[in-house]
Amino acid sequence: MITHNPPRLLDLCCCAGGAGTGYRRAGFEVVGVDIVAQPRYPFTFHRADAIEFLTAHGHEFDAVHASPPCQEYTPLHALHPEKTYPDLVAATRDALEALGKPYVIENVMSAPLRKDRSITLCGGMFGLRTYRHRRFESNIGLRAPSHPAHVARTATSRRRERWAQGWHISVTGDVGRYVGPEAMGIDWMTGDELCQAIPPAYTHHIGRQLLTAINRDAVEVA
Ligand SMILES: C[S@@+](CC[C@H](N)C(=O)[O-])C[C@H]1O[C@@H](n2cnc3c(N)ncnc32)[C@H](O)[C@@H]1O
Repeated sequence: MITHNPPRLLDLCCCAGGAGTGYRRAGFEVVGVDIVAQPRYPFTFHRADAIEFLTAHGHEFDAVHASPPCQEYTPLHALHPEKTYPDLVAATRDALEALGKPYVIENVMSAPLRKDRSITLCGGMFGLRTYRHRRFESNIGLRAPSHPAHVARTATSRRRERWAQGWHISVTGDVGRYVGPEAMGIDWMTGDELCQAIPPAYTHHIGRQLLTAINRDAVEVA
């Protein structure tokens, strides 16, 4: 396999760059794609459909991360089945398998990710003030840190008050920017972007494993 130096990661459905920032910290050059303009995305950005961009440009990258929209798979949607949302996990996986590069697909716990190929990450593994479980499917055999017991109380209502009292927080809805640094490790997003984001600590952890997988039989080119 030939890799770029630094290795290049395509960050699909990137929003404001929570996942992308973790991959950057691991050592990747990161390029983001989202169907909506993302003025706070910290790296090179293209406004495009994720699967169309992947099909046209995936060969220019060493690894790919995708965070397809999760609304279709959430318990909230089960309460409002009349609403329709994109269901992109399977189509994204098909396009990534066709590309044949190391990949990661991230989503909520109830998304249709392959159980035999996925791990769960939790904020407690990284010292964050949110538990925020998310699943990561990959074709490289990811490993998760040990999962500490959830001992802190978590606020979903009266959140500012509970936050000030030292509780953890459920980052759902536009919770406000005040939770960003301690709960998510993010200080550049709006509250609405924060509630969609992956803590960079999660993808920093995964990015190091992707680099190992890429470099195992890589020939680096300048
Ligand atoms: C859950 S957010 C991603 C969060 C991001 N990974 C982070 O850590 O900050 C999902 C994103 O997918 C984008 N999206 C939805 N459909 C898309 C499509 N067809 N192509 C590209 N992006 C899409 C949405 O605009 C949204 O920003």
